[in-house]
Amino acid sequence: MGILLIHNIGLLATPLGNSARRGADQGTIQLRKNAWVLMNDGVIVGVGDGPLPDLSGYFVPMLDAKGHLATPGLVDAHTHLVFGGWRQNELAQKLHGATYLDILAQGGGILSTVTATRQATEEELFEKARAALDEMMFMGVTTAEAKSGYGLDMETELKQLRVIRRLGEEHPLDVAATFLGGHAVPAEYKNDREGYLRLVCREVIPAVAGEKLATFCDVFCESGVFSAPESRRILEAGKRYGLIPKIHADEIEPIGGSQLTEVVGAISAEHLIVCPPDGIAAMARAGTVACCLPATSFYLGSTYAPARDMVNAGVAVAMASDFNPGSCPSLNLQFVMNLGCLKYKLTPEEVLTAVTLNGAAAIGMADKVGSVEVGKQGDLVIWDAPDLDYICYRMGSNLAKTVVKKGEIVKNAV
Ligand code: NIG
Ligand code: FE
Repeated sequence: MGILLIHNIGLLATPLGNSARRGADQGTIQLRKNAWVLMNDGVIVGVGDGPLPDLSGYFVPMLDAKGHLATPGLVDAHTHLVFGGWRQNELAQKLHGATYLDILAQGGGILSTVTATRQATEEELFEKARAALDEMMFMGVTTAEAKSGYGLDMETELKQLRVIRRLGEEHPLDVAATFLGGHAVPAEYKNDREGYLRLVCREVIPAVAGEKLATFCDVFCESGVFSAPESRRILEAGKRYGLIPKIHADEIEPIGGSQLTEVVGAISAEHLIVCPPDGIAAMARAGTVACCLPATSFYLGSTYAPARDMVNAGVAVAMASDFNPGSCPSLNLQFVMNLGCLKYKLTPEEVLTAVTLNGAAAIGMADKVGSVEVGKQGDLVIWDAPDLDYICYRMGSNLAKTVVKKGEIVKNAV
């Protein structure tokens, strides 16, 4: 790692700060014309506009942004990155009217991915997830979260989390790890929910924490999956072992997930498609980041989370892909940005904050990534775009031209 000077940035757009931006602050970003960014040893050491800094006497590699837009590297704060197989067979079932929960109740859905993930070797899972991370990086993502939850037994949950750890070590992207043993009740515990809850709380969570394999503990709080009291039990068990709570809440039915954020002190709540007003109020009081996943609404054909109401109520909104083989087989965060404007009615500025600084806050990394300012990691994207409106308006093309991660150029197509 060395010095890198990115110059001739037509417009630099970034939120500012080391924590989530909420309310009116979510849409208040810094815009600099004719800007430059100086990085050294992976960290941003200077940002300015107009004349370049005087670096005479140093050999300084220069990256010419050719007048394009630059933003922070995108943060995808919610993915189910590591899984065996795919589920294209469910498309026909969907077209014949089966819902997501119908397919799960019949033993398909998450449970069929569990079978494929149990069968896959650690190496197979690693290679497949690495290819997905590459694709994310080429589309402008520089930090991602990844969950377990397709093992649902001790061995496979640990296998997934070891893959996630290795991805973080070997891939340029930073990868935050989340334990999601509470993703479904596996088939072998179908008639013994209590037995599965005990396995997760008393055996798997201690093992995950013992190997330091995850920072967060998540749960799918959903009708037919885990009730709010069961979800609370799993998250409280995680907390006893130092795992920070996250909740898949109000995705299909509002059974108390968003209200639980305040009770357990969740760092983020996910989905929130049918989040009621008192859930929004609970998240505002708790300072929980609402991590909204509009590509999942798109794929499920459901309604969209009330993200506009959340911003208006002072909840920090992040947006992420939810990349997974069932409810969102897409990792395209640029499409998520389109949907943020078109469906959530957020402004392009609010959308940028949602996929950068607020995403970083949802995974506890807002002091390191999510904005272009001195002291943050050197993560930046140069877009084939003149301004922010353009990337929120164009659909279906990959507009990320150059991607810089920790001061290194990891993709360059300018
Ligand atoms: O976030 N909702 C629960 N989990 C995933 C879907 C997982 C799957 O269908 O494989 C989600 O949408
Ligand atoms: Fe999810």
